[in-house]
Amino acid sequence: MTEASRIQPIRIFDTTLRDGEQSPGVALNHQQKLEIAHQLARLGVDVIEAGFPIASPGDLEGVQRIAREVRGPIITGLARAGRADVEAAARGVEDAERPRIHTFIATSPIHMAKKLNLEPDAVVERAVQAVTLARSFVDDVEFSAEDATRSEWPFLARIFKAVVEAGATTINVPDTVGYTTPDEMRALFAFLKGELPEHVYLSAHCHDDLGMAVANSIAAAEGGARQIECTVNGIGERAGNASLEEIVMAFHTRRDVYHFETGIRTRELYRSSRMVSRLSGMPVQPNKAIVGDNAFAHESGIHQDGVIKARETYEIMNAELVGREAAVLVMGKHSGRAAFRKALTELGYTVPEERIGDLFTRFKDLADRKGQIFADDLRALVDARTDVPQA
Ligand code: KIV
Ligand code: ZN
Repeated sequence: MTEASRIQPIRIFDTTLRDGEQSPGVALNHQQKLEIAHQLARLGVDVIEAGFPIASPGDLEGVQRIAREVRGPIITGLARAGRADVEAAARGVEDAERPRIHTFIATSPIHMAKKLNLEPDAVVERAVQAVTLARSFVDDVEFSAEDATRSEWPFLARIFKAVVEAGATTINVPDTVGYTTPDEMRALFAFLKGELPEHVYLSAHCHDDLGMAVANSIAAAEGGARQIECTVNGIGERAGNASLEEIVMAFHTRRDVYHFETGIRTRELYRSSRMVSRLSGMPVQPNKAIVGDNAFAHESGIHQDGVIKARETYEIMNAELVGREAAVLVMGKHSGRAAFRKALTELGYTVPEERIGDLFTRFKDLADRKGQIFADDLRALVDARTDVPQA
């Protein structure tokens, strides 16, 4: 087998506008949803889950506008496994270029007994009815087994086979409560792959309650998943969903081990992150991988010196590749002489070598007192010395 033939395409199913909007405190209006949906199309996601049409008239209208106006990705709406939900989802996506209905029901013993109050046989029956109804509206139907990772594997195989028979084309396996581990996820997908026909798209949907959503999604792909559900910045219920940008960049940066590729235009990642943060009102933590303020910032003298000599010393990917400015050297008390000299040169100063030592000592004193040093601080420091010429 050649290297190229080993590369598996992975579909990116973005649920920022549905599961992401379920983040406590987030409510996006139609205009904001549309703006994000257009950006997701530019980013190159394969599927946009635009909302939960039965949830409110506003949600239905939001899905309809996206279905009418956004071209490229498949547009889907979520529906519980019931007539009213599926009909609302069908109305939501009817004008889409490529419509999909996504229906779900819970399959774990605790959800079936305590939440649904249904016997397993009745759950299978409802799932089949919902998928059959969905197929009467669209050709592309996704079925999810909520709380799949706490469900019994033989029951999952049974319900999935039944809904595939009824016409579901994508089978989604959610780790609804963020409970599973990468080894379990890989094994579950390998098991399901062996149980279901080849044409079925297996999908993973991971939550981040134990901080393992990205690792679990990647493990699912190793086990046989061909679609990954995720959100920009990892926003979503409770601790959130698997973060789109982390999955995409893990596949891209470690293609030596993973052999998966997505259709994401990585240079749109940062813009997408900023837009979702601004419109959702959810700040991105500074140390967040890929899109956090500090993700490409170097603070210590040793690291700064290394990066000045060769970026690869402390950078495993270029900032430009994810649509950001080149790596930033943060000037502070840990900075070294090489970074200090470079910062002055970038500000337009030509500092004679014999002056650097004195300026560097003053810079360190200031950094001790002030913490982070900005361009204006450096200018003030140098301008106070009349013997330093400007370029
Ligand atoms: O987490 C979950 O189980 C879900 C499903 C509705 C897909 O979001
Ligand atoms: Zn979810």
